Amino acid sequence: MAAMEQFEQFLRTHLPNVEGFHPHYEAALHAMLLAGGKRFRPALLLSVVRAYNTLLIPNAYHAAYALELLHTYSLIHDDLPLMDNADLRRGQPTLHVQYNDVTAVLVGDALNTYAFEVLTGAPFSDRIRVKLIRELAHNGGLHGMVLGQIIDCHFENQPLTLDEIKLLHINKTAKLIAASLKMGAIIVGKETVATKLYDFGLTLGLLFQVQDDILDVTQSVQEAGKPINNDGDKNGFVTLLGLSEALQKADMLAADLFQQMQTFETSLQHELDVLLRHYINRHKD
Ligand code: IPE
Ligand code: IPE
Ligand code: MG
Ligand code: MG
Ligand code: MG
Repeated sequence: MAAMEQFEQFLRTHLPNVEGFHPHYEAALHAMLLAGGKRFRPALLLSVVRAYNTLLIPNAYHAAYALELLHTYSLIHDDLPLMDNADLRRGQPTLHVQYNDVTAVLVGDALNTYAFEVLTGAPFSDRIRVKLIRELAHNGGLHGMVLGQIIDCHFENQPLTLDEIKLLHINKTAKLIAASLKMGAIIVGKETVATKLYDFGLTLGLLFQVQDDILDVTQSVQEAGKPINNDGDKNGFVTLLGLSEALQKADMLAADLFQQMQTFETSLQHELDVLLRHYINRHKD
């Protein structure tokens, strides 16, 4: 069975189980995880592991799952009325719509911390586990995604400079994507590759967010599975540059990625190529 299908099975068998009499806590914890999503961050981590040591793939599912848990929490909070106020996510009503704000906040908190609980139980040496925990915390937390989100929300309707926008999106989106690749390299014990992949991942993450901003104005709600035209107040790339310049920016980042890829070992190039083929031109779909 292909690794991503096995990852889905892993996720389903490692869903948080909770005891107690709350009527919807467990269902709410599961809802957004089971609603789908591209699983881009797990796929990045697994492709690096596959490039170097396929035997480690089953162990790597723990780390891939931790990434998806943290990412899913970030989406649940991102959609809250006091942040982006979105009523649809992964084609489903958001948790604050299905249940209420308190449920969405607390389910987000629970998935965030569960991500680290999953990592502590991952079948690696203590040394590797600590490195993985650090990467996820650093890039998904106060120095990364959270920093990006607080800038994103604070500066709504206040135009930032292009450099500031880049910093916003590097933190909001790119660092977790870069960490996904780096965590794959940590698992297979390739420290030099980890550093190189992190830089590559920052460019990839920036491209991913430029594309997300483009798709906000080019996709249908059904295609996106989330509200569209929702970023007018934001310092997004389309708001700042306009659609055609944002498309050019995406093309430039994609070209840069192809160049960086040429410097990777063949097996890694091959694995990333298979995965990125689906994503690198998604702004043109
Ligand atoms: C959406 O992430 C938020 C961004 C960082 C752009 P994804 O586009 O990966 O969302 P899912 O996981 O597929 O739902
Ligand atoms: C959010 O960016 C990125 C996160 C850290 C969750 P967006 O607000 O653009 O993501 P979408 O478009 O709602 O998925
Ligand atoms: Mg947002
Ligand atoms: Mg949003
Ligand atoms: Mg968006």
